[in-house]
Amino acid sequence: MSRTVYVNGEYLPEEEAKVSIFDRSFLMADGVYEVTSVLGGKIIDFSGHIARLERSLGELDMQKPAAFDDLLEIHRELVRLNEIDEGMIYLQVSRGSAGDRDFVFPDPEKVKPTLVLFTQNKPGLADSPAAKTGLKVISIEDMRWARRDIKTVQLLYPSMGKMMAKKQGCDDAWLVEDGVVTEGTSNNAYIVKNGTIITRELSTHILHGITRAAVLRFAREAQMTVVERPFTIEEAQDADEAFITSASTFVLPVVEIDGAAIGTGAPGPMAARLREIYLEESRKAGV
Ligand code: PDD
Repeated sequence: MSRTVYVNGEYLPEEEAKVSIFDRSFLMADGVYEVTSVLGGKIIDFSGHIARLERSLGELDMQKPAAFDDLLEIHRELVRLNEIDEGMIYLQVSRGSAGDRDFVFPDPEKVKPTLVLFTQNKPGLADSPAAKTGLKVISIEDMRWARRDIKTVQLLYPSMGKMMAKKQGCDDAWLVEDGVVTEGTSNNAYIVKNGTIITRELSTHILHGITRAAVLRFAREAQMTVVERPFTIEEAQDADEAFITSASTFVLPVVEIDGAAIGTGAPGPMAARLREIYLEESRKAGV
């Protein structure tokens, strides 16, 4: 079935949706994005994703394409039109098309941002088999640009990282910079040692995950100890548990890093509990 997608004010069949070849996201990766999950037809952590979108736009001096309420309406309409029960909504804003290629930003009075949204239908998303088996990750050098707190569409290196992992029979890569883990290719990274959850503190080195914020809040509410600091791959290999968070995976256990089993080599109880709490609370709070 063809999806209905959204492009600059119009709902269209995906085959008819078009963006200019001069669009700056295409030529310069001059665009930002958000991925928001849908559970039971409800949109999860919507206000957090839009707050981060507005921050990304602000950091890049890019115009806001629509008001909060309008964006919510578009998300809801796409969920309705595409009958999404579980899945994701992808949103991208670019600086638009000035009708030519030029490094200089176009005049925002003349060139409006491009706004594109589409849904990804993923029945069974909340019941992912990976929650039971766990993920195997490799570590690679973090070679991304230095403003990872801005959610830009420059995803070539993360894609290459996933491919490197696949080639080694693994699921994903954790990125290492100056000897410590920054995050996963498309998720935030955590370890658990002696009951303490350890994850890198917020800075320009990592994306400020919306799922991360929610999971850490739930962890603290459940009286779990959270320490926000960097950790090494060796420390991770010696941890009792490891896991990742993102809007598309929620909380998933990591059972192996660079061939070394984590803890017992099976998904750990803290990750399982956090996944359960996250899914339960998110379903309640979805809009
Ligand atoms: N990725 N770190 C990176 C580098 C990411 O790309 C993502 C999200 C996260 C987790 O952020 P959040 O919890 O807000 O999803 C951390 C999305 C899912 C993607 O690119 O598909």
